[in-house]
Amino acid sequence: MIDIHTHILPGIDDGSKNSEMSVQMLEKLKEEGVTDVVLTPHFYASQNSVEKFLARRQVGFEHLMAALENRHVGIRLHLGAEVLFMDSLDKVDGLGDMAIRGTKYLLLEMPFTKWSSRNLDTVYKIQCNGFTPIIAHFERYIGFNGGLNEIRELKKMGCILQMNAESFQGFFTKRKSLKFFDEHLASLLGSDTHNLESRPPKIKFAYDAIREKLGEPGVERILYRGRRVLEKSEFVEV
Ligand SMILES: [Fe+2]
Repeated sequence: MIDIHTHILPGIDDGSKNSEMSVQMLEKLKEEGVTDVVLTPHFYASQNSVEKFLARRQVGFEHLMAALENRHVGIRLHLGAEVLFMDSLDKVDGLGDMAIRGTKYLLLEMPFTKWSSRNLDTVYKIQCNGFTPIIAHFERYIGFNGGLNEIRELKKMGCILQMNAESFQGFFTKRKSLKFFDEHLASLLGSDTHNLESRPPKIKFAYDAIREKLGEPGVERILYRGRRVLEKSEFVEV
């Protein structure tokens, strides 16, 4: 299994507090059967320069590597970021360093307010710069932005839509989530884990729910798309 969206890197955002917690989070995902984890700490271009963010991310990564020394977790780590949308995001220098390393896939967090056509224009400009946006937890914007139309528009534009595993909790949200995968609107799954308790490293139950409803091909499609995203990515095996 692939977890495309996590906040496991220690001490960089509101995710893992320290490297020991990060190791435990990785071990939990490994127990679930996850083979690949993308590390996607929050990046806010309005508050932080790319350089500063990359330096902090590197420090977090080195702390994690030190904590993992002599412990074979058996998982591949891919460095990335969760980039918060802003109007001039397409003009931010160094955006390429925010993509999943070695690829042109950019995990993009959209605003939790009503979107204007300008928002979609900016996404289009980011695409014109050569990136393929992966829209983080797209299901969380529904209701904030007035409906599914904008989400469907992003899909039509060629964005990849990622859903959080937690959407498979609860009868009605689970039913809706399955429908999004059934109609091929949703493409990828992530745990978006931030810690061990309130936002835990759990993703298997979501893959299992998809398998139960859509059969093995339903799961295989998600894994195939994930592998396509990570194909060219530079990873570290730990
Ligand atoms: Fe996130």
